[in-house]
Amino acid sequence: MRRWILAATAVAALAWPGAALAQQPIVIKFSHVVAPDTPKGKGSLKFKELAEKYTNGKVVVEVYPNSQLYKDNEELQALQLGAVQLLAPSLAKFGPLGVREFEVFDLPFILPSKAAVRKVTDGPLGAKLMGLLEPKGIKGLAYWDNGFKDMSANKPLYMPEDFRGLKMRIQSSKVLEAQMRALGAIPQVMAFSEVYQALATGVVDGTENPPSNFYTQKMHEVQKYLTMTDHGVIEYAVIVNKKFWDGLPPDVRSALESAMKDATKYANDIAKKENEDALEGVKKSGKTQIITLSPEDKAAWKKALLTVHKEQESRIGKDVIQAVYKDTGFKP
Ligand code: LMR
Repeated sequence: MRRWILAATAVAALAWPGAALAQQPIVIKFSHVVAPDTPKGKGSLKFKELAEKYTNGKVVVEVYPNSQLYKDNEELQALQLGAVQLLAPSLAKFGPLGVREFEVFDLPFILPSKAAVRKVTDGPLGAKLMGLLEPKGIKGLAYWDNGFKDMSANKPLYMPEDFRGLKMRIQSSKVLEAQMRALGAIPQVMAFSEVYQALATGVVDGTENPPSNFYTQKMHEVQKYLTMTDHGVIEYAVIVNKKFWDGLPPDVRSALESAMKDATKYANDIAKKENEDALEGVKKSGKTQIITLSPEDKAAWKKALLTVHKEQESRIGKDVIQAVYKDTGFKP
């Protein structure tokens, strides 16, 4: 009897492949390089929760944090090949893909507030920049915040001249390279997953991060000083393999669009507090001295770094920089 039922099911599956296949959930692999208890870490888990709920289980999202699946310099290629479906890289990491315009977000002090970031990402420039990914087989779905970056090292960084000769880890952005050179430092591009070890062994002397990345990667254990410069932002583009996305059943795609919209609101709403809590964690650890800058000090940093804007015009595009100035009212 049991064998007949099994046989009947097998026949049904063959006769109606859709039925059997329909039961197979669509798997979305979401890979990223940061810790789970960060704005992006929590945002990706929120997307998982909502995507599975809004599609009634037709989709399963597998989240791989901390570069478990792919490191920085591998993940974009893996996305283009379809080995992974979803990523949320920092906007500082699209240069190697040939989309240099995103590096406008790396220009020092160009985005003075979260509201300014929002004005750009939710405006025409934000949409235009995401559009530049389509010819690469990538579709941009959303912008997620992290926060403002601060500078750390094992010597106190009060003024730009304190950077002279320091080896500073950066993301793969030519603008960040120019920023560190403008400070007299030696920039070192390195995958995020390698930074803690490089700081611990002295391969690099310092780096720049928002508190949420600094604390969750335990950099406070290997960095004695953190200067609250807020000189730049870490902002993410949530991206999907375009062929995969366009190939989804329409009902599933629209449910995922709602899940992404709600997860984006959640991730951007928690980002500021996540960084404040992380900074509290650093302070409580007593392992890193926090240096705050007076308005005069900050003016000296701006004087030292604003030259980078002009210098990088030909790389990023004058029109792109001007569009951010217009959106944010920034006066160089
Ligand atoms: C970094 O490499 O410093 C950051 O982009 C990591 C991240 O994704 O926040």
